[in-house]
Amino acid sequence: MAERLAFAGALAREAGATALEFSRDLGALDVRSKGVQDMVTEADDTVERLVRDAVINRYPDDAFLGEESCDSFRPDASLGTWVVDPIDGTQPFLCGLRTWCVSIAWFHDGRVRLGVIYDPTHDELFSALLDGGATLNDQPMSTASVTRLDEGLVGMGHSNRVSTDDTLAPMRRLLDANGMFHRCGSGALSLAHVAAGRLIGYYEPHMNAWDAIAGDLIVREAGGRTNEPVRQATHLLTGAPMIAAAPGVWIALNEVIDG
Ligand code: IPD
Ligand code: CA
Ligand code: CA
Repeated sequence: MAERLAFAGALAREAGATALEFSRDLGALDVRSKGVQDMVTEADDTVERLVRDAVINRYPDDAFLGEESCDSFRPDASLGTWVVDPIDGTQPFLCGLRTWCVSIAWFHDGRVRLGVIYDPTHDELFSALLDGGATLNDQPMSTASVTRLDEGLVGMGHSNRVSTDDTLAPMRRLLDANGMFHRCGSGALSLAHVAAGRLIGYYEPHMNAWDAIAGDLIVREAGGRTNEPVRQATHLLTGAPMIAAAPGVWIALNEVIDG
């Protein structure tokens, strides 16, 4: 597993460097829309191909699920599956903001076994191995030591897959509880920031597996709690709500979400 983690980390760095090159000339990018506030660019496609080719070359017996090629994916519980978002935070990426990342996880036998999230604009690599702890640029990291929601920021995400109220109702309860929301436009990077203790939690009513599962493992391995949304190969295509928090605010955040 350590070898797979090293492979994933190096691949995320290479993919991030490629995406960073594209970000230097955003005006030249071919961009198309997949839906409301949901864009895809030639950078997403190119980076996903780079990751996919490297994975197939190194681990030919594994399956591959990438955001931009998910239509051709068929879940198979007997196979280890690489789950990849080549650029999470495409909207911020396209706007010239610096809150986007590459997310790579390996899922096998009902568990996420490893996860890496690379933020190229800050050169930060967040990674974790199941039961092996979590690191930021090879240094151990841990979730925040808060006990109340008014002690920090809770990341929140929204997409066209849920209703406005699905997001606004918990956001209202969070504010009423003297908490504060933060949205950076990349769910995966937000989860990495929960693991690093920068955010105290994260909630999104629906997240796809390629956005969620690397960060999900990284938060848990950093000492945080999550709802562990993907536990079967079939969940890889359905997605689920995502809840993550520092242990001291896990109950309070769930109360805010459940109402
Ligand atoms: C989106 C981002 C956003 C989250 C959405 C995702 P994309 O991914 O992670 O923060 O709220 O659920 O779909 O389109 O930037 O890869
Ligand atoms: Ca994404
Ligand atoms: Ca994406």
